[in-house]
Amino acid sequence: MKRLNRRDYIGLTGMALAFGGANSVLGSPRLSANASSLAQDYSDQKHIPALKTHFSNNFKVGMAIGPHHLTEPKSLAILTKHANSIVAENVMKANVIGASQGVYNFALADQLVSFAQKNAMEVRGHALLWHQTSPEWFFAGDTHLSTYKASVRARLETYIYDVVTHYKGKVFAWDVVNEAAIDDASSDYRHSRWYQIFGPDYIDIAFRAARAADPAAKLFINDYNTEYADKRARLMRIIDTMQARGVPIDGVGHQLHVNTITPSAQHVTQALSETEARGLINHITEIDVSFYHDPESCVSMIETCLPSVTEKSAAHLGALKDQARKYRELYAVFASRPSVTSVTTWGVSDLNSWLSSWPIARLNHPLLFDRAGNPKAAFWAIIDPNFVI
Ligand code: XIL
Repeated sequence: MKRLNRRDYIGLTGMALAFGGANSVLGSPRLSANASSLAQDYSDQKHIPALKTHFSNNFKVGMAIGPHHLTEPKSLAILTKHANSIVAENVMKANVIGASQGVYNFALADQLVSFAQKNAMEVRGHALLWHQTSPEWFFAGDTHLSTYKASVRARLETYIYDVVTHYKGKVFAWDVVNEAAIDDASSDYRHSRWYQIFGPDYIDIAFRAARAADPAAKLFINDYNTEYADKRARLMRIIDTMQARGVPIDGVGHQLHVNTITPSAQHVTQALSETEARGLINHITEIDVSFYHDPESCVSMIETCLPSVTEKSAAHLGALKDQARKYRELYAVFASRPSVTSVTTWGVSDLNSWLSSWPIARLNHPLLFDRAGNPKAAFWAIIDPNFVI
């Protein structure tokens, strides 16, 4: 390993001493990252390999974005260099598009779609129905009336049909229903308002309306924790009943909001295999690798969430290494499975990841690029087999 001199520390994110090593400099000089390449400023993205090229025989490389990314030069540089697919982090959700019954606010999502078209990127649509973002107008009316169910159903069908029609030919895949499976063992289905009104039928209604509007778009059920056997079993049973009823579904979206410790490659492989066994394709829809391995209680009792790791501390450097290993392990699985046709990170760089405010506000660094837009160890780990972590 090259001895670092003082100048190498300028602009260093703190990783130079932690990464690199004898093997990393023996590999291809074009590709292999070493300590000094981590220290360089690559935030213009010019002299590093492009993810979309590296994985061109494997899957589309997606990133979740919002309109704000389109005015951030460093985010734009990352997007145009590395991504050949985008998804709207928020502005294609029904609480944004569905202003009121029959009134649509497509403006923000349209900006993202036209950005994608200008830059030869595909668009994933997210999400037509999600319990967290279903506006109140869907459910308006007297629930005791015999016509109540039919009117909610008509609103849902019309909303989905209109939105999918608006983006027909522009959105290649839709997350039709997001997070339908429940987290505990009480049943298979999340007891959302939709489920309370329709039972499992709401899923059928949503998928059939999407298929009717754009028969060419690939339709997904999307969920988190599919890497855990119990949650996955619930989701797979939901899918089995959909398929038994002839509901048009093409794939499973695995969110994969994971952390530096879990899941193992084996768990993810199992999730992909179970999808394949049903004749469906796999999309990795929201991957990020959090620094924090919170206890399960953290979601309901945020005081149990792990405290912020101080930047450039030993724990921080250790987490960056663990994260690089986790990204390498998981991307190797994705690349080895032809059924994985799209892998989307939930964000562009650490600068504006949702994990900086969820489940609590704390420093998190879950993505492949740091706050300045420089590729992190995790980037080199997935792109360069000779990179030593
Ligand atoms: C999140 C966004 O990232 C946040 O900005 C927003 O406040 C809440 O939603 N699962 C999903 C995504 O399917 O839509 C969520 O996105 C993250 C969890």
